[in-house]
Amino acid sequence: MLHRVIYASEAVGATGVSTLSIAQILGESDRNNRRDRVSGCLMFHQGHILQALEGERADLDRLMRRIIADPRHTGVRILSDMPIAERRLHEPMCLCGDPATLLERIGLPCISRLTANEAEALLDIRKAA
Ligand SMILES: Cc1cc2nc3c(=O)[nH]c(=O)nc-3n(C[C@H](O)[C@H](O)[C@H](O)COP(=O)(O)O)c2cc1C
Repeated sequence: MLHRVIYASEAVGATGVSTLSIAQILGESDRNNRRDRVSGCLMFHQGHILQALEGERADLDRLMRRIIADPRHTGVRILSDMPIAERRLHEPMCLCGDPATLLERIGLPCISRLTANEAEALLDIRKAA
């Protein structure tokens, strides 16, 4: 059964700021998520990270264990974790290119205190964008 996990975390050091740090995460994610049939989307904004991941339960659980242990970020908080009928994300990993505009469209200055509903709303409008 497919599930979707959405979590937020705080970047450590240059994570999400330097192009190299972003490229490294996207490269690993693309390779592993393709292998594990996981799809996902990642947003960096002002030191905060938001990621949505979709896939089979066992694949997501293995991935979340790796992600939680990753020292490039800290304070991983699961905002939402639920079964889904179908995927909303169709690429192994995509980077949200213009987080500020997306956040503005749901009336939020920042992703630091995002609720599960707001995170789902972000997924909706990024699809429409
Ligand atoms: C914000 C963030 C998001 C990540 N997203 C993924 C992901 O979607 N898929 C993935 O395989 N690794 C992701 N990683 C990397 C993992 O934490 C871990 O380093 C990697 O999966 C290990 O891969 P390896 O076993 O091939 O070395 C992410 C790391 C960070 C910091």
